[in-house]
Amino acid sequence: MKKEEIELIKDGKRLDGRGFEELRPIKIEVGVLKRADGSCYFELGDNKVIAAVYGPREMHPRHFQDAKMAVIKYRYNMAPFSVDDRKRPGPDRRSVEISKVSREALDPVIIKEYYPKTAIDVYVEVLQSDAGTRTAGINAASVALAAAGIPMKDLVSSVAVGKINGEVVLDLNAVEDNYGEGDMPVAMVARTNTITMLQMDGRFSQEEFERGLKLAATACSKIYELQRTALLERYSESIGEGEA
Ligand code: CDP
Repeated sequence: MKKEEIELIKDGKRLDGRGFEELRPIKIEVGVLKRADGSCYFELGDNKVIAAVYGPREMHPRHFQDAKMAVIKYRYNMAPFSVDDRKRPGPDRRSVEISKVSREALDPVIIKEYYPKTAIDVYVEVLQSDAGTRTAGINAASVALAAAGIPMKDLVSSVAVGKINGEVVLDLNAVEDNYGEGDMPVAMVARTNTITMLQMDGRFSQEEFERGLKLAATACSKIYELQRTALLERYSESIGEGEA
C-alpha cells in the first residue's frame, strides 16, 4: 500500500508536541514477575512491554546444547490486544525476524562461556504497541538479564531514529512510523559506542544516516542511565530489606 504524505511536523514540533531530538517518556520497573529469574517492565511512551529471563537452565532438546557455552533464546511476542486491529496470536514472519535481531543485539554482551550446555531463555511480551516495540523489548530484556544475574560485559540500550517530512527525528511513534519516510532501529553498548543492531527501512542519505546514528547514540546513553538507575534502585532496596 502506498503511503500518503501527511503533515507530521507543525511549527517545528511533532504532532505529539516533541522536539526532533526528544525521546518519549520512559518508565522502568525491575523484578515484576516472581517466577522469572529476572524480569523488567518497560514503558516507552505508549509502548508497554515485559521481559522475563529464565536460566541458565538445562537445554532441551539436548542436541541444541553447545558444549562450550550457553545458548541464548529470545522470543518476541505481540499480544493480540496490543495493536489497533487484533493481531492473530502466535509467531509470524515479523516476530521471528524481531526475535532474531534482538537476540543478536544482546548476544555479544553475555558471557556465555560460563554456562556450557545451558539455555538462557528471554521472553518479551508486548502488551501495548506504538512503534519501537523491538527497541523497548531489547531495553527490557537487557535489564531482565542483569536482574537474573547473568554475567554481562555491559547493558545494551536501544532506540529508533527515523525520517518524517524530510527531517531526521528520534524515537518514532506509530503515526510517524506509518506515514514517515524511514525508520532505523539501533541497539548499542552506550558506554563503548558499540553497535549490536542496526536496521533500516526507507531511504536515508549518508548525511541523514550519520545524523540519525548520532541522535541514537546520545539517546542510548540516556536510556543506559535509566536502566542502570532502575537496577540500582531495585537492588539497593533488597539490600536494605536484608539488613532489617
Ligand atoms: O514495533 P517496531 O517499531 O519495533 O516494529 P515495526 O514492525 O516497525 O512496527 C511498528 C508498529 O506498527 C508497531 O509498534 C505497532 O504499533 C504497529 N503494528 C501493528 O499495528 N500491527 C502489527 N501486526 C504489527 C505492527
